[in-house]
Amino acid sequence: MAKTKVSDLDWNNLGFKYHDLPFRWTDEFKDGKWQGGHLTEDSTIVFNEAAEEMHYGQEIFEGLKAYRRKDGGINLFRPDQNARRMANSAKRLMMQAYPEDKFIEGVKEVVKANQDFVPPYGSGGTLYIRPFMIGTQPVVGVQRSESYIFRIYATPVGAYVKGLNPMPYKISEYDRAAYAGTGQAKTAGNYAASLLPSLEAKKEGFADCLYLDPREHKYIDEFGGANFYGITKDGQFQTPKSPSILPSITKKSLLQIAKDQGLNPVETQIPITEVGRFSEAGAMGTAAVISPVSSLTYNGKKVTFGDGKHAGPVTQKLYDTLFGIQVGDLPDKYGWTVPLE
Ligand code: PLP
Ligand code: COI
Repeated sequence: MAKTKVSDLDWNNLGFKYHDLPFRWTDEFKDGKWQGGHLTEDSTIVFNEAAEEMHYGQEIFEGLKAYRRKDGGINLFRPDQNARRMANSAKRLMMQAYPEDKFIEGVKEVVKANQDFVPPYGSGGTLYIRPFMIGTQPVVGVQRSESYIFRIYATPVGAYVKGLNPMPYKISEYDRAAYAGTGQAKTAGNYAASLLPSLEAKKEGFADCLYLDPREHKYIDEFGGANFYGITKDGQFQTPKSPSILPSITKKSLLQIAKDQGLNPVETQIPITEVGRFSEAGAMGTAAVISPVSSLTYNGKKVTFGDGKHAGPVTQKLYDTLFGIQVGDLPDKYGWTVPLE
């Protein structure tokens, strides 16, 4: 695959796709230890045909972004939280955790080495950073790998969903993760499980689908790549509490911001039959940032939020605050941003 050059990029129309940038971070766990990690120009990985992850799915990943500030500097957003979540995913998948300080070092090195690819301030683009780990030991029986490759690549992206344009979603009849399964871990299998439901929803004219809890199919769980929130008609921020969803760092941050904006936020079970209580709803995540939901269709019945065309005022204010902090336009009283220069 050809390396992407800065001159190839149209900053205002990046889309959400992979570019082969000059540098990535790579490390290997073998003989019982991590080797230390370094940058490499090689975007390929070579492993044995019987590698654990290829057959039994020991793969975990993360997603975070680097933001270009107005003064030309670069901010990371809560990379410590991604490092911690990846360690938790490693535990669930019985993989070797990557040291959290090395995770942050690797992220910083990758961003610095590819800094010309961090989109300009005001373009709406960001540098998406994708740390991941795979079990590489050749195995035939189902067992954990004793060797791993950890890697971090980065790619410049535009908005995953463009602008604050509310989009229609359907409630899926499928599950993406089991009740006591791997939903809290960021692991490949959860996403493979979401491909067919997502494709079917898109064929029916929806932006994507929203999953219900896999045990009772009564309560809202989350989207395939983002958590859900709703704003009640009397102004409360509500987001699902469930053992089968990913603990979103964007959600964690918005819960804090919502509290400070007097939205009295709660994590609670949200029955699908009661979504009529919301005047606004949306998806939240690193890629999604905040993506408003215009309607939810369940059992052939459509519930529309607000006028179904414009982002509501609460959503707009949450977005402005979160993104303002991330790009350094607003003071970060929480200590979430990590300036790189
Ligand atoms: N839920 C799922 C299934 C995701 O893949 C993501 C994206 O990482 C999120 C939620 C949002 O998490 P975060 O805000 O940490 O990006
Ligand atoms: C992210 O938001 O970082 C994710 O990993 C979601 C993915 C579907 C792009």
